[in-house]
Amino acid sequence: MTVSTPAPAPATVDLGDPHTFADHDLDGFWRTLRDTAPVYWNPPVGGRRGFWVVSRYDDIMATYRDNVNFTSERGNVLVTLLGGGDAGAGRMLAVTDGHRHHALRKILQRVLSPRVLNEVAQTVRVNTRQLIREAVESGGCDFAERIASRIPMTTISNLLGVPEQDRDFLLSLTKTALSADDEDVDEVDSEMARNEILMYFMDLVEERRESPGDDVISMLIGSAIDGVPLSDEDVVLNCYSLIIGGDETSRLTMIDCVHTLADRPGQWRRLKRGEVDVETAVDEVLRWASPTMHFGRSVVHESEMHGVRLRPGEIVTLWHASGNRDERVFARPGEFDLGRTPNKHLAFGYGPHFCVGSYLAKVEISELLLALRDFTTGFEQTDEALRIRSNFLTGFSTLPVRFRPDHRGLQEADR
Ligand code: HEM
Repeated sequence: MTVSTPAPAPATVDLGDPHTFADHDLDGFWRTLRDTAPVYWNPPVGGRRGFWVVSRYDDIMATYRDNVNFTSERGNVLVTLLGGGDAGAGRMLAVTDGHRHHALRKILQRVLSPRVLNEVAQTVRVNTRQLIREAVESGGCDFAERIASRIPMTTISNLLGVPEQDRDFLLSLTKTALSADDEDVDEVDSEMARNEILMYFMDLVEERRESPGDDVISMLIGSAIDGVPLSDEDVVLNCYSLIIGGDETSRLTMIDCVHTLADRPGQWRRLKRGEVDVETAVDEVLRWASPTMHFGRSVVHESEMHGVRLRPGEIVTLWHASGNRDERVFARPGEFDLGRTPNKHLAFGYGPHFCVGSYLAKVEISELLLALRDFTTGFEQTDEALRIRSNFLTGFSTLPVRFRPDHRGLQEADR
């Protein structure tokens, strides 16, 4: 049967509204959608367009894989899809399709591959261990501010060759660009922050053109597609993409990791005693955090999913927040299990746009787990953690934590 009218579902939940995610526990909502309306219509609200909501793992994978019927070039997150498109379309990796996407991705993969990132991984290790050691020795800290804010931003800034003195400024912008940790920050502030990041990189690209260095910006300036060098705009947009993609997602995952472990001493003990493989644990941390709640596509050719007709131009959103908890794929999906295998989670997406920074993100999370394991015997959350507000990202902007030092581990590392 073909159903062209929207499927019924809890009408009180508006997935376009950032407050929805701060104010509700949506586990039950997602389960209802997966069971009864796997392709659900989030209706228009206050002049904003409606959009399709895909909640089952297999359907999300199938849509990610299908770049014939679906495109990223009209935006890949609700804010741009609903706002009428993405200014970086056809030039910024995440919102480019086809041949140009393939060529651009090859260029970025060169600098983000495990082989090339070997040295970067060493630096992540040294930084992470130093930050965790300092926090453990001082008894505690706001983990979000003192540790998680430092590691991904330092790493991606090192790669891009962002001068040390500019990093705090950039961090303040990336914290506002896609989410808000303050009631006073609205979409206008976020848009200004995104523009400021672009302007910042315009200046830096101009500088690097004059005096190239050994960094990703200089490499991008020297790159060409089909014999045509990348323009300054192309380079700027892709730097933006790397800093936005590389900072907040990893930062939120690290914060969620410590938040979750502090709350589950049994899982922490498994890690501490070496009962779980760290690589396996990293995947569960990612599945659990699912920091990017959704990505999205626009329909190019009419297609059908679960009897629902998807028409050209319509917006289809793919919810990791639901797919990563789909009981059709994951046993006991509501349990955080550091030893979970298999664990083919969707945190990095799937198909042609699969996260190009996934290796780097995994290095960062794995070094965090190792430093925690080696330097502390345990930790507690000492005060409430503040939730960010966003319809795209989920997580906390603060996480006050007290650490108990592992004196033997700290001494061994000194040798
Ligand atoms: C793409 C998630 C870390 C850069 C993606 C996509 C997801 C994702 C789901 C697919 C988007 C789509 O299909 O429209 C994550 C998560 C991360 C993370 C959860 C950390 C926990 C990073 C890092 C970098 C990065 C560290 C950069 C160093 C990118 C870029 C793309 C992308 C450039 C676009 C790839 C393409 O379109 O071909 N990411 N990411 N990400 N990510 Fe990540």
